[in-house]
Amino acid sequence: MLHLQDRPRRNRKHPWIRNMIRETTLGPEHLILPLFIFDGEGRQPIESMPGQARLGRSALIEEVGAALSDGIGAVVLFPAEKESLKTPDGAEAYNPEGLVPSSIRAIKAAYPEMIVVTDVALDPYSSDGHDGLVNEDGTILNDETVEILVRQALVQAEAGADIIAPSDMMDGRVEAIRDALDESGHSQVSIMSYTAKYASSFYGPFRDALDSAPKFGDKKTYQMDPANVREALREVDADEAEGADILMVKPAGPFLDVIRAVREHTNLPVAAYQVSGEYAMLKAACERGWLDEKKVVLESLMGIRRAGADVILSYFARDVARWLRDA
Ligand code: PBG
Repeated sequence: MLHLQDRPRRNRKHPWIRNMIRETTLGPEHLILPLFIFDGEGRQPIESMPGQARLGRSALIEEVGAALSDGIGAVVLFPAEKESLKTPDGAEAYNPEGLVPSSIRAIKAAYPEMIVVTDVALDPYSSDGHDGLVNEDGTILNDETVEILVRQALVQAEAGADIIAPSDMMDGRVEAIRDALDESGHSQVSIMSYTAKYASSFYGPFRDALDSAPKFGDKKTYQMDPANVREALREVDADEAEGADILMVKPAGPFLDVIRAVREHTNLPVAAYQVSGEYAMLKAACERGWLDEKKVVLESLMGIRRAGADVILSYFARDVARWLRDA
């Protein structure tokens, strides 16, 4: 016999004891469901994201109702805009009758209790596929872009968005949006900032879904270098000072250390986005029977929560809510 003072296995000997001392929880209240929408009817399956589809008008309302019955109370909208509406200045982004504002109104009319989050960036509307305005020399303009993002955010708030989520990574956009919201009577509209958004290759399936890949170059002059973590804290300081309500790290799985660092650096709630590529990887392996979907998805989300995320944006949100309920 070993003479051990410490036997950590004693705390693992019974399911009740294991539950009693569990350090991290995961529930539907921690999840936001991203939805792709288009101007039309029906559902258009997204090949690189099995189980996900672009939703037409009535399909969107059905999906929101189904999400609520599953226990998911927040969605974030991403529009697949018609090619004919995409322009160099992305002006469709602030059309009050556009796809996003009209979808917000439709959701709020059918399900006023659903929290609606909206994305602020120009890529779905830009004929260049960039998040900001492109200068003649191919650089992405910052301050001129922020003016447009402010107009986009105001239109979304006017339509009834509860939380505005700027994903563009322009400098100074949180403060500009906060000021404009406050001045126009929307002081109760929240800002969830994509604070540390990396120039990641895990967004591929999302760009397929929206047909929004950059037409030239990459996003490295505005999104962050995946090698950096101190720089994320610099972005945290800026967004905090500019009035953000929730700070996001994106992607989630490959950046758990960044989530942890941000968690330790701020008192604001932290969100993390389990992006399209993370979804696609898990789905692909599970479809082949190489991984057990329910178990690995729950483990991946628990890992993101354990790293320090309060909120997780995940395409698995509805599945997770059902699995946890039926468990
Ligand atoms: C657009 C935006 C992107 C994602 C969310 N908002 C793509 C990008 O920056 O190129 C990616 C989400 C995902 O991959 O699931 N600004």
